[in-house]
Amino acid sequence: MTLTIEQEQQARAFLADLRKEIKNHAGVGHSILGRMKTDPRTRFDFKVLAGQHFPLVGNFTRYMELLLLNAPDSEAKCWLAKVLVDEYGERSEGEDHAEHYKKFMHAAGHKPGEEDIIPLHPEVVHFIREHYRIATEEPFLVGLGALGPGHEWSIPAMFELAVAGLRKAGFAEKEIEYWTMHLEQDQDHGAWLEEALVKYCIDESNRELIRRGALLSLDARERFWWGVTDKIASESTKKHLPPGTSATHTEGQLTLRELRQRWHVEARLVE
Ligand SMILES: [Fe+2]
Ligand SMILES: [Fe+2]
Repeated sequence: MTLTIEQEQQARAFLADLRKEIKNHAGVGHSILGRMKTDPRTRFDFKVLAGQHFPLVGNFTRYMELLLLNAPDSEAKCWLAKVLVDEYGERSEGEDHAEHYKKFMHAAGHKPGEEDIIPLHPEVVHFIREHYRIATEEPFLVGLGALGPGHEWSIPAMFELAVAGLRKAGFAEKEIEYWTMHLEQDQDHGAWLEEALVKYCIDESNRELIRRGALLSLDARERFWWGVTDKIASESTKKHLPPGTSATHTEGQLTLRELRQRWHVEARLVE
């Protein structure tokens, strides 16, 4: 489908407004990120953050693969597939992004093999559940809004703040390559998914679906950052107090390994 110049201008104007709205969302400029320079975080804080963030990194391609199945035409599939090929390691020496992230986790103090046995804050689990729900139950454009604008547009802004904090905490550039690599790659991913989006944005109801997807994702993201903040506070409290009873227990919190054992996401024939 070819757009007229006027249609293309209108679509791009909507997308530009959406970019502004996303940039100002509390999920992107959350206080834990925004205060990285004035309220520096320690390596220990980043160890906690790394453990909570890894499940998001490790599940992202699954949402994208599910969305690809629902894409209405080959053009949209092509843009999604381009992003996926990068996520599988095309521009990171063959190492997929979740594997790459583990290097950062080890630098932050997690032992190899223990990346998926960390008790997860309920908001971390909520984030993943919500994105599987969006990718499988919502219309395709809601999913594209969540993964395109909701993820690929917002990640460079969030990661720029995180990188400033990581450098202040003393991490070496080699240790934080996962983060710095995304400052660049996600500019491309965001641009590619914008190309997948543009032709749908001439229709008002489509625009609403895309925006709804982006906001659903960012709402979950804001809650995720609150969960990380809570985890950092509770883990620091435990670290600094002598062993004893604490209200900050992790009983009942699932690990990524448990989630993977319990959850089954399937694509199946419904007649
Ligand atoms: Fe990635
Ligand atoms: Fe990306």
